[in-house]
This record gives sequence, C-alpha cells and structure tokens, in this order.
Amino acid sequence: MAQLTTTPTLRSATPLDAAAVRAEFPILNQAVERGRPSLVFLDSAASSQKPAVVIEALEGYYRTTNANIHRGVYQLSELATAQYEQARHLVADFINARSPRECIFVRNTTEAINLVAQTWGRANIGPGDLIVLTVMEHHSNLVPWQILAQEKGARLAHVRLTAEGRLDLAHLDELLIQEPKLVAFTHMSNSLGTLNDAAEIVQRARASGAVTLIDGAQSVPHLPVDVQALDCDFLAFSGHKMLGPMGSGVLYGKRSLLEAMPPFMGGGGMIRAVELDHATWADLPAKFEAGTPAVGDAIGLGVAVEYLTALGMDRVWEHERELVAYALTRLGEIPELIIHGPADAQARGGAISFTLGEIHPHDVAAILDEHGVAVRAGHHCNQPLMRSLGLVATTRASFYLYNTEADVDRLVEALHAAHRVFAI
Ligand SMILES: Cc1ncc(COP(=O)(O)O)c(C=O)c1O
Repeated sequence: MAQLTTTPTLRSATPLDAAAVRAEFPILNQAVERGRPSLVFLDSAASSQKPAVVIEALEGYYRTTNANIHRGVYQLSELATAQYEQARHLVADFINARSPRECIFVRNTTEAINLVAQTWGRANIGPGDLIVLTVMEHHSNLVPWQILAQEKGARLAHVRLTAEGRLDLAHLDELLIQEPKLVAFTHMSNSLGTLNDAAEIVQRARASGAVTLIDGAQSVPHLPVDVQALDCDFLAFSGHKMLGPMGSGVLYGKRSLLEAMPPFMGGGGMIRAVELDHATWADLPAKFEAGTPAVGDAIGLGVAVEYLTALGMDRVWEHERELVAYALTRLGEIPELIIHGPADAQARGGAISFTLGEIHPHDVAAILDEHGVAVRAGHHCNQPLMRSLGLVATTRASFYLYNTEADVDRLVEALHAAHRVFAI
C-alpha cells in the first residue's frame, strides 16, 4: 500500500541546501540534447514543480489504494479515506488551524475564493454594503467579488498603492471608516512580489467590524503562515503552487463562519439526509465537498506539506530572501532594466517583474526561452495593477526552494543577450 509518510533526505541540513533540494525534482534534472541549454525554471509563481516523493505518492495511490472515499465499507475505500483525511490533518497543522474541519479541499485558490463569495457573500452582503479589495489583487480576488457586488448591489473599493508598490495603509484606514463588510487582500503580490503585513491589515479590518479573507496563493508556499497568529477569517491557497498536484487547493475558514454558511455546491457527500423536495447538510468539512473529490491530489498535497515541513518553512523563506537579494543586485547590472515592486529584498518575496527598455515582455521571454530560462510574460492576471502602473505587461521571474544563484546568473546572462539582440 502507498506510504503517506515521507522522509525527505534533507531534514537536518541548515541552511537550506538548494542544490540538494533540486536533485529531488525529476523535471529539473532531465537529460538535455547536446548543444541545448538545461532548464532554468523561473515560473513557480504560476505553478511549482513537484519532487519525486509527490509524484511517487500519486502513482502509489493509483497503483495500490484507488477507491472512492467515505462510502465504501471495504478495506481499500477505508484506506483511501484514511489517507485523504490524514492529508487534511497535515494541511491543518501546516497553517496551524485549530481543527482539520476548518480546511476544505478545493481545486485551487480561485475556487476557494469563489466558494466564499457565493456562500458567505450571498448570505451576508446586501445592497450598498462595501467590499474592500486592493489594486494589486489577482483576478481571482477581484472577479468573484465583482459578480457578487453586481448581483447584490454592493459597492467595491480598492486600497491604492504607494509609488514603491506597497499598500497605502492610510487609504485602507480611510476605507475602514466606512465600515466594510469584507476586506479581502493578497498576502503577497504575484507581480510585484510585495509582502503585505497581513496581521496588521487583519487587525485593522477586524477593529472596523469587517470579515477578512487572505489570498495566500503566493505566501503559503513560501513562508510560515499561521492562521491563528494572523487571526484571519478565511485563507485561500493552491496546492499546485507548493509542490502539490495540479487540482489541489485549500480553503481555510474559521469554524463558526463555515458552520453558518450555506453550502457551495449540492450533491453527493455534502448531505445529512435528502427528501424529494429538500435536504439537510453534512457537518464540516463534508458540507463543502460535494461529489467525488480529487482524492489522489489531496493525498499528494499532504505529502508536499510533509516535505515542506521537514525542510522547514523558515529555511525555505530564508533561502528565497537571500536569492531575491542576489537577483535584485544582479538584475541591477542590466542596462535599461526596470524592476516593478519594492527594491528592498526584506519587503518582498520571490516574484520579480521587470521591463527591459522598449522591448516587449513577450520578446524578452522568448529570448530567455532560447537560453533555457523559463519565465512568464504578460499581465499575470493583474490587469488593473498593470493599468495603474501604466504598463500592459511585464516579464516575471519567480523563484522557489529549488532555485540557486546559478539560476540567477543564467537569467542575467540571457537578459544581456536579449539586450544585445535588440541593441538598445
Ligand atoms: C495571488 C494569486 N491569487 C490567486 C491565484 C490563482 O491561483 P489558481 O490559479 O491556483 O486558482 C494566483 C495564481 O497565480 C495568484 O498568484
């Protein structure tokens, strides 16, 4: 039967040995054709690569344990159920939730936020109510609230940014005077890399009577996140950005709120009893997990969480900070390169957006690709943010625990080449 408990080989090394971590990611160690550059993967903000233990856990699940959960009375189903619920325990411990019941498995951050908008939002937001968001939000934390506001006749307001790409907390305070029902914001910007002071924002929002939702898509994979210390009401994050399988994600919610919320989707698994014309709901977390869940993906996420926990999130974060400081210095050597976001490595995470003179970000990304460096170019699902910066797109390099200074050097070399090609 598949083993859920993994034993990463890197438990005691300190600080993080990124080269050893990298060796555990098969995709980063593929043989390359003669004359072709090896892969430098700098797009982890979109989705991370997966270590062998996660890939093996997925394969092991399908080879040895696959069965539908929560309904079978046979051994295989009981084992699959136990592993699925064990993964929920691991996730709950990872973010320090009071109970695994507060962790709902979803497909991704987007689904988690839509769940809150469609259940808590529909039940609690009315005509004229104010929802406070920020200009730096990903479309996933904008559009669900736009849909809700249009349906309910509610109002939206957005916290402005400072020139350096940080949230203007004085503007937040002005908006809080209007007593919003909800403050929903990203912990870390996926374009600017800005790390927001989530505990401070939650505290101010709570003092004004607002419910709080943190978009943790870019923070939970990279730094220690403790929902009790933050005291947020909801936290949404994506398993696939933190070494877990595609199709895995989590909504954390405070138990009292989740219990009071109506269900998201109706169907099997989420009910207590069904009559022909009405039904009653199952307890948490089943109430929000209608239909057959992605069992193997949740189990794979549990293994990813064990892997990260064994490495230590403090060390992961420390490694990324050092790498970002190095990258900011090295990128400064490239003529006409402008970094969008905080210049201070201590105030930011590992997503670095930049423009290179007048060269279109897609052209920059295409040249980097020729050098084996995979980055993203575009609006990064941040169209309003791009507009506020007077930009259409940027090129973005994003780092994770398997990246090294050698990757930064390859990026810098390739950028020099791009600069030469366009001879600006
Ligand atoms: C800050 C932020 N929020 C939300 C999302 C959406 O994540 P997903 O596509 O996994 O739903 C992303 C994805 O890049 C993100 O960076």
